[in-house]
Amino acid sequence: MDLVIQLAYLVASIFFIYGLKMLGSPKTARKGNLYSAIGMLMAIVFTLLDKNIITYEWIIIGLVVGSSIGVIFALKVKMTGMPQMVGLLNGFGGGASLLVALSEYYKLSNYAEGANIALQIPTNTGVSIVVSILIGSVTFTGSMIAFGKLQGLVTGKVVRYPLQHPFNALLLLLIIAAGAYIVINPASVDLLLLAVIVSLILGVLLVLPIGGADMPVAISLLNSYSGLAASATGFVLENNLLIIAGALVGASGIILTLIMCRGMNRSLMNVVMGGWASAGAAGPAVEGKEHKGDVKSVDAEELAMILDSASSVIIVPGYGMAVAQAQHAVRDLMNTLEKKGVNVRFAIHPVAGRMPGHMNVLLAEAQVPYDKLLAMEDINDDFPNTDVVIVIGANDVVNPAARSDPGSPIYGMPILNVDYAKTVVVNKRSLNVGYAGIGNDLFFNPNTLMYFGDAKEAITKLNNELKEL
Ligand code: TAP
Repeated sequence: MDLVIQLAYLVASIFFIYGLKMLGSPKTARKGNLYSAIGMLMAIVFTLLDKNIITYEWIIIGLVVGSSIGVIFALKVKMTGMPQMVGLLNGFGGGASLLVALSEYYKLSNYAEGANIALQIPTNTGVSIVVSILIGSVTFTGSMIAFGKLQGLVTGKVVRYPLQHPFNALLLLLIIAAGAYIVINPASVDLLLLAVIVSLILGVLLVLPIGGADMPVAISLLNSYSGLAASATGFVLENNLLIIAGALVGASGIILTLIMCRGMNRSLMNVVMGGWASAGAAGPAVEGKEHKGDVKSVDAEELAMILDSASSVIIVPGYGMAVAQAQHAVRDLMNTLEKKGVNVRFAIHPVAGRMPGHMNVLLAEAQVPYDKLLAMEDINDDFPNTDVVIVIGANDVVNPAARSDPGSPIYGMPILNVDYAKTVVVNKRSLNVGYAGIGNDLFFNPNTLMYFGDAKEAITKLNNELKEL
């Protein structure tokens, strides 16, 4: 039986790895999700066969309650609420690692019966238990704060206090020292519990300083931590599948974190230390800046006429399109333009929106064909040959200051060069800033036309005008 179970674990790991690989492209992502889910089902079924289960009652109750909550969340949570949902799930992962490792500690040490603990926990298991407990604790409270910030339950502001970083470093050192002591002297139950409490506090202190708008990066990092905690728990339980799955989550989480940081041209340190104080703030785009001339605004009718004579159009979606849930209206606009013989493509910035793949997911949901969605590096050279670019609810990812203003917080961030197109149309509700909290000179360029309004309403209106021409 053991061989069958180990083989099943191997097959489940292959499903996970293939599933992850398929998630790399929108075309195969759904299948990738399915493959990973099959791997997880196998993992659960064979784990239940693997261990000496005393009673299935509580497991079944847990499965039913947990699955019901999962189904409700999956159906109810909006796409824009996904980051906090992921944050919450990471926290549960970390919390589970903490609880499993703690219970294993008590089991192995025969603590309840007062046996000699020191003799009963081998060093390698002791290290795994301590790592699992400590990373699990930090992940749990850190993720809960991240969830709270995104949900508006905890302040989204960058929180700073005196000696913040040295204090956190001191706590980390204390936790590591306590962990090492516990591995050598497993009988130190009180010290272990103290280390858990300090780790829980550290999780709060590490995430609290990070601005609400930087939370997606923090959540991706916490996702990586939850994987590491799970992997360590795999060593505790001597479960190969958990070791592999945890390592996959740990590695993919850190890769995603770095991709997001690169997309914003920021170091991980800058994010973690509470870098952009203004991130997520709202305010007038022109604050503190002198702008010569006014913006030129157009209405739906004028814009429809401009589009009617265009032969190539690139649509640039951003966070505003997601908030307005305008993806279906945008798809309809694409269809109308194509019927008129216009070549329509979409330019997707790696950090457009608020989570990785945000725009791809929304547009795919609206049945926009995958081959129309082009990554920044594949489309950036085409802007000068494009008649009209329509920017829908995007701001920072098209801000030319990233190219030209060394004093700008986003200087160096790769952007979509929309200003190189013949005509740029920007749809948003006002001249307000985006996530980075900074003004955007694009709105004042001579070849830019502002089309003000909520993305869904404005694009629907534009589409109706266009159909009438
Ligand atoms: P933003 O720069 O955040 O700008 C979004 C714009 O949408 C706002 O200026 C807002 O202007 C407009 N808007 C809001 N609601 C709207 C509505 N109902 N209809 C029309 N427009 C609306 O968005 P972006 O260009 O997509 O850039 C994303 C930012 O998020 C980047 O700075 C990026 O670094 C950051 N970020 C992204 C991620 C990931 S992984 N995607 C993770 C962390 C941070 P009005 O208020 O004037 O309408």
